[in-house]
Amino acid sequence: MKILLVDDDLGIRESLPQKFKLKKWEVSTAKDEDIAIEILKDKEGYFDVIILDMKMHNDKSGIEVLEFVKQQDVTTQIIILTAYGTIPNAGEVMEYPNSFGYQVKGIDKWIEQLLAKIEKACKRKKDKDNKREQEEERGRKLYELICSILERIDNFTKGHSRRVAINCIAILRELKKSTSTNKREEKDKWTVGMFHDVGKIIVSKEILQKIDPLTVDEIEKIRKHPEVGASIVEGVYHLEKFSDCVKYHHERFDGKTKGVDRPAYPGIKSGKDIPECSRIIAVADAFDAMTSDRAYRYGIHPDDAIKILLSEKGKQFDPDVVDAFIKAYYSRPRQIDMSDEAKEKLSEG
Ligand SMILES: [Fe+2]
Repeated sequence: MKILLVDDDLGIRESLPQKFKLKKWEVSTAKDEDIAIEILKDKEGYFDVIILDMKMHNDKSGIEVLEFVKQQDVTTQIIILTAYGTIPNAGEVMEYPNSFGYQVKGIDKWIEQLLAKIEKACKRKKDKDNKREQEEERGRKLYELICSILERIDNFTKGHSRRVAINCIAILRELKKSTSTNKREEKDKWTVGMFHDVGKIIVSKEILQKIDPLTVDEIEKIRKHPEVGASIVEGVYHLEKFSDCVKYHHERFDGKTKGVDRPAYPGIKSGKDIPECSRIIAVADAFDAMTSDRAYRYGIHPDDAIKILLSEKGKQFDPDVVDAFIKAYYSRPRQIDMSDEAKEKLSEG
């Protein structure tokens, strides 16, 4: 069990961890809210329980920590520590979805009561994690099914979503090397990588596999797929958070919507305003598209695709994401997955 103890009282920060360690619980401590939030930023979803003192010496009430955890979309449970006489204040914060009761400090057997509450809070977290996992699994299966239908319609993109998903995780790992990624972030990248093109369900097989140049209307239809995909994702519980990621995966880092070979669409965001996951998908998607065969052309050599990614740094793509991709590409063993035809070209040299 992993616990974060937030209390300005040095005595509490020294005595409680000893009790936790006897139970073989891992404990981190923070003397104020700011330090606690820094720890939580770095270790999103890491802690099972946060013990939060609601009356710290700098007049901060602990609400900021509650707000921060709420926004992180994690199941970490929070037990409020409160001094005798301030119970109604603690009651106010029970509305927060992660609050798991409060413990009055200093009363008879308060530490035993706290230990029992921590165990119950941990069980609640596990139940919530299991429920969420089941719901997400249902969502993932639905999208994998849609993707497989999509890939059957457009045979040339077979395996594309899966490779994009794998390569999104490889990029994420390189980007976050200094801070280390958590399982949830990787799962999210996998999920969104798998269904980033789900909006193509509205584009007919004839358009997707057309050998002749596309008409203006057909191009328009294809360019609608990120927005259509986002509206599909919005309707699914727990997957709605990926909506923006899908919507902006064809934006350009420089924001150009005209005068370039591959203009941005929908053309609303640019630079770091584009969600990070969309910037990651853009690179993973482009590499796989360039190196895979299509009905109307053969894929290029992976090393040539790398050169194009480099030339588009800061133009079509986020330079940091391109660098991360290239590091993953040249790593031993290679972290980047690719189509059979691309692998064949690499083995030929
Ligand atoms: Fe796309």
